Amino acid sequence: MLKIVKKHLKEVKSFYSENDLKIEEFRIKYNGKKGVLNKLFKSFRDVPEKEKKEFGKVLNELKKEINNKILNLQNKLIKKVSSVNNDLSKPGFPYKLGSFHPLSIVENKILDIFSKIGFIISEGPEIEDDWHNFTALNLPEFHPARDMQDTFFVQTNPDILLRTHTSSVQVRYMEENNPPLRIVSPGRVYRNEAISARAHCLFHQVEGLYIDRKVSFADLKQTLIYFAESLFGKSKIRLRPSYFPFTEPSAEVDIYWGLDNEIDHKITKGTGWLEIMGCGMVDPNVLKNCNIDPDEFSGYAFGMGIERIAMLLYQIDDIRVFYENDIRFLDQFKSI
Ligand code: PHE
Repeated sequence: MLKIVKKHLKEVKSFYSENDLKIEEFRIKYNGKKGVLNKLFKSFRDVPEKEKKEFGKVLNELKKEINNKILNLQNKLIKKVSSVNNDLSKPGFPYKLGSFHPLSIVENKILDIFSKIGFIISEGPEIEDDWHNFTALNLPEFHPARDMQDTFFVQTNPDILLRTHTSSVQVRYMEENNPPLRIVSPGRVYRNEAISARAHCLFHQVEGLYIDRKVSFADLKQTLIYFAESLFGKSKIRLRPSYFPFTEPSAEVDIYWGLDNEIDHKITKGTGWLEIMGCGMVDPNVLKNCNIDPDEFSGYAFGMGIERIAMLLYQIDDIRVFYENDIRFLDQFKSI
């Protein structure tokens, strides 16, 4: 019995650690409820009478040693931690500030502009079905207009695809809400295109939709002028007749960029005009598909590519930089 206590005494004396977990482990092993010390004290009555005196002495020594050890090691630990933190004149650790991605900055600007005139934000799924992306938008199966957008279909189910435009959100919103409606829907879209400086298989759009009684093309034009003025500080726009299956009439919107800032005539190709989006009056067939009576309601829709707008605003000439996550590029947008 005496031997065991002496063995523990040796062990305790030689124990050293600066690790708080190890010290705690040590404390529990020796001083815990079911620890060594308690067990040894309990076994005191089984010690033969003649050994009791010696046993008691060594046991008490062990107890003292354990308590001192724990106290010393814990004190050391506290000192070590506070010596790192107690100099209040030391400079703090700087936070590494992140920044918004330029596409988020531009998207937020666009959404802000439309929120100010009562448009609310509505989002939809990126994995769409044929109905919401094509059929309801007046593009029936085999319609040649489907060729305009090379689509990523899910191989095992041709009814499921990656949406090619955010116009699918119009359909979803019209199906679930009664006019008057006023939404902008931002989001990612996908087209099966070869990646180049001008095109990418993934990009972002913001689409707008306004449905009410007696909405006219003049309302659309005024909204576009307000938008161009707010985002670019330029209010001169022109509408070129165009074609989209879901709008009739349809137009392409150009803003007058001017030639003053154009060093090598690359941005507007020397014309001064830049295309920024597509738009039109919602086709009555689309309204019908979404259970809205085209005799009572009319509306307009518009859609734009966020990358395109960002490239114009920041004079970026390669779309790929948006997706490379090069910190040297992204850092430039910190203060914007
Ligand atoms: N969905 C069209 C596109 O992706 C843009 C658009 C939206 C045009 C709404 C007209 C009206 O090109």
